[in-house]
Amino acid sequence: MPEIKTVAIVGLGTMGHGIAHCFAQAGYDVLVFDALQDTRNGFLPKITKTLQRLEEKEILAAGEASNIVSRCTVCSSLEALASADLLIEAIAEDFVAKQTLFRSIEPILRDSCIIGTNTSSLPITALAASCTRPERFIGIHFFNPAPRMPLVELVPGLETEEASVTALQTALTSMGKKVVLARDTPGFIVNRIARPFYGEALRMLEEQVADEATIDCILRSHASFKMGPFELMDLIGIDINFAVSEQVFAAFYFDPRYRPSIQQRRMVDAKRLGRKSGRGFYQYDEGDTSGSTVPFDKTLAEYVTHRILFLLMNEAIDAVFLGVASVEDIETAMCAGVSYPKGLLAWAEEFGLATVLDGLIALHEEYGDDRYRPSPLLRRMVKNKASFFAE
Ligand SMILES: NC(=O)c1ccc[n+]([C@@H]2O[C@H](COP(=O)([O-])OP(=O)(O)OC[C@H]3O[C@@H](n4cnc5c(N)ncnc54)[C@H](O)[C@@H]3O)[C@@H](O)[C@H]2O)c1
Repeated sequence: MPEIKTVAIVGLGTMGHGIAHCFAQAGYDVLVFDALQDTRNGFLPKITKTLQRLEEKEILAAGEASNIVSRCTVCSSLEALASADLLIEAIAEDFVAKQTLFRSIEPILRDSCIIGTNTSSLPITALAASCTRPERFIGIHFFNPAPRMPLVELVPGLETEEASVTALQTALTSMGKKVVLARDTPGFIVNRIARPFYGEALRMLEEQVADEATIDCILRSHASFKMGPFELMDLIGIDINFAVSEQVFAAFYFDPRYRPSIQQRRMVDAKRLGRKSGRGFYQYDEGDTSGSTVPFDKTLAEYVTHRILFLLMNEAIDAVFLGVASVEDIETAMCAGVSYPKGLLAWAEEFGLATVLDGLIALHEEYGDDRYRPSPLLRRMVKNKASFFAE
């Protein structure tokens, strides 16, 4: 099994910076590189400031910040990354740019170096094909902010060798990360299963079932989510969330289950992008209008909650059906990656799988839209009175 001591990070934006922080804090030697000189020059002052703040809050022991910073080396060329045992690419989400980078860096790296990508949406096997040795290539999907979010989705490509997977599982787990294994399919685990949280809320808004503040309040107070879908889209960036929806929809050859929303597209066109632009579904520039408590009746709350939850549960069940990940990893991913209050499969069983199936069949019949078709596994499990958690 390759031993990982030195980690190289290419691309020092939001994700690369956070990933470098994670490895340096865990005791690894970290080499960092970005194409932009200003970004390279800004790396050490920025990470020093972040770590000093953690020291002030006593999250880090006194003197620890400077120890961590001393493990980071800013490099001014790709050649300077040659001693890495693991390389993680975190440059822009652009297939050709990533492919070009892998083609130039692979000959520089040692044969034993594992090559990882932090892509959210590009196919791992296709990126691996940029390398002459795709068996050492793997998706390593951190969540934002990387130092705080525990989940990492490991996504082997078709050619990835077991030794690379095992080495990463060991290293990431010992850093305190929750590591799940996902099949190389669009959206991996979290970005696939979470689509209806946004998509069905947008559908209900378009149908005027309720306004955004009411839907958000219901999801928070009736279903125990930390944030409602509209508040969350405003936080993520409506453009980013829409781009992921479009990519997943196209990658599934336009399966109606993942159809993006026209209403959301209009928000992007109008540059109402959420918190970062001062206005999204809520206003932020003249006081924050999100997060309010709104009165709603029980029937509406149940309708809204069931519509979103049953679709989320159906996605989770279909992910099991298609071998995207194990039952345990799907439950972990949705709780650790997007802070869902419960694992969706256990939650579906609390409702009763037959209730979830009936709810989906009713929506399917009412709308005549394949977006609501129940997973074959759900039908099968109801028929056989089966459980995901049987002894
Ligand atoms: N932002 C998120 O929430 C998030 C979450 C998970 C995964 N991701 C994925 O992580 C990757 C990075 O995303 P980000 O949000 O950090 O992007 P970002 O735009 O903040 O940073 C990208 C950095 O890469 C640098 N760069 C671009 N091309 C380069 C090249 N050829 N060589 C070296 N440096 C180069 C840029 O100068 C920039 O500093 C993307 O693949 C994205 O899909 C993002």
